[in-house]
Amino acid sequence: MINKTRIKLGILISLFLLLSIYNNCSAPEAHSPLHGQAEGASQRENGFVEADFLSEEKPELLCGTQGYEFLLKQYFGVHCAVCHDRSGGFEPYFAQNQDASDSYYKALYINEDTFIETITENRFCGIECSLNKDGETYKAIAEWLENKWACPTN
Ligand code: HEC
Repeated sequence: MINKTRIKLGILISLFLLLSIYNNCSAPEAHSPLHGQAEGASQRENGFVEADFLSEEKPELLCGTQGYEFLLKQYFGVHCAVCHDRSGGFEPYFAQNQDASDSYYKALYINEDTFIETITENRFCGIECSLNKDGETYKAIAEWLENKWACPTN
């Protein structure tokens, strides 16, 4: 009998220990139901959103059609394609995941100021896609805009 209660107590104590270890390891705010909102708010405070970060290493210089293809995969095809794809139906069709070269030609002729406005303060995809000018993605797009017609030859 004594042995059984000891075992039960032992199990209870280990469970308790496991639980407290688990609680200590995860950040306390992770347990708050407001977590999502709090994170959203802090993102807005420093202005960064997920879209500001590239998921793959950028080629040395973003230029010409290959440079655009990279941006299409990283950003335009993710955030703008719902609308700016032929099936989305809103011109210009610069975000067709199925047709990088046609998308490139459409992107070439977008007025650059308009382009910048729509990637930093987009009325349609909102805060999620609106880029911070200090972020990787914005800088990558700006670099491409400077070299959009072709890659430099030397
Ligand atoms: C929910 C649909 C939707 C999404 C998502 C969307 N757009 Fe648009 N976009 C539109 C519509 C509708 C228009 C045309 C009407 C307008 O200009 O207000 C437009 C127009 C444009 C234009 C042309 C504006 C002009 O004056 O010539 C550009 C450039 C543009 N969008 C860029 C983007 C970029 C970049 C993204 C992604 C970051 C994006 N859009 C995401 C709906 C969308």
